Amino acid sequence: VAAFTNLEKKFVISIAIINQKGGVGKTTVSLNLAAALSLKQKKVLLIDLDPQGHSTIGCGKNKKSIQLSLFNLLSPSLSKPRVAEVKLSISEHLDLIPSNITLSQFEPLMLGGADREYFLRNLLKNVTGYDFVIIDAPPSLGLLTINALLAATKIIVPLELSPLSFDGVESLGDTINLLQQRLGHRAEIKYVINRFQANSKIGQELWMEFLKSYEAQTFAQPIPATVRFLENLRAGNPFRLKNLGPKAHAAIEAVAEEVLQWSLQPKLTATMLRQSGLNSAAYNFSPEVPQSVPVTAGATVDDSAPASIFL
Ligand SMILES: Nc1ncnc2c1ncn2[C@@H]1O[C@H](COP(=O)(O)OP(=O)(O)OP(=O)(O)O)[C@@H](O)[C@H]1O
Ligand SMILES: [Mg+2]
Repeated sequence: VAAFTNLEKKFVISIAIINQKGGVGKTTVSLNLAAALSLKQKKVLLIDLDPQGHSTIGCGKNKKSIQLSLFNLLSPSLSKPRVAEVKLSISEHLDLIPSNITLSQFEPLMLGGADREYFLRNLLKNVTGYDFVIIDAPPSLGLLTINALLAATKIIVPLELSPLSFDGVESLGDTINLLQQRLGHRAEIKYVINRFQANSKIGQELWMEFLKSYEAQTFAQPIPATVRFLENLRAGNPFRLKNLGPKAHAAIEAVAEEVLQWSLQPKLTATMLRQSGLNSAAYNFSPEVPQSVPVTAGATVDDSAPASIFL
């Protein structure tokens, strides 16, 4: 029994918001989900993983005046700051690790470095005291996004419905799965439809069509298009969910609720461990470390030899 109490301990759910396409709503989902969860009394850490620093701006912070940012935490340096020195308190339940253009040095700097895909994951190993970590990824599938994939227990892909997005979603899903497979990591993917045009015939038709293929992996509530998201962004205040209007507010609430439900699923139970052929001693993890749920019988968890896709 004692061996399993460790498994019962709360561990951080890390959610990466990913799409290599620009402007689809990664930052909007990151900010609003972070705000909605923190308003539900969950402790949330928002990580701005984009050199554009849009989540930083969205939290009302001036990215130019930021002295220490995510880059200082990720870059290999002797005088690395602690997370506590870098994070900014946005509200009682929401902290932000800000970023600005200096983060664009990460990819060129790390290209030859060992463990370069695991910097964020390693950073999160030392982050405690949160229920959720939300990672706002940049619009690329480069090294920063790979770091997000490997640090995540869950992946949310915001999409706009268009005849073109059906092609994109398949290749993006395949790419994410392939990357995870090659790196021996598995985080579940869920799509969220953004800028939904509920009142148009084509919008409804595309939604139905999308659900035919992806219903099981799609948030039930699409997020409608509204300029109110722009207003909150300009105000630098992600907590004004009511200002979004009833429909967008309800959609954000529904997405946050679904995330809460979803986050209950990966808890490793004794039964799951038995079925997967692992025992608790073999599956040695600390509650803070994001874990992929072992799915195959006899699967082993080996963090000692990280794979690389940049070999
Ligand atoms: N549902 C929506 N309704 C209206 N405007 C939206 C909606 N979602 C996002 N926007 C606006 O569209 C713009 C792009 O959104 P956002 O910044 O969230 O996308 P992104 O995927 O993070 O972009 P990037 O790839 O550049 O990081 C922003 O100005 C945002 O306020
Ligand atoms: Mg963004």
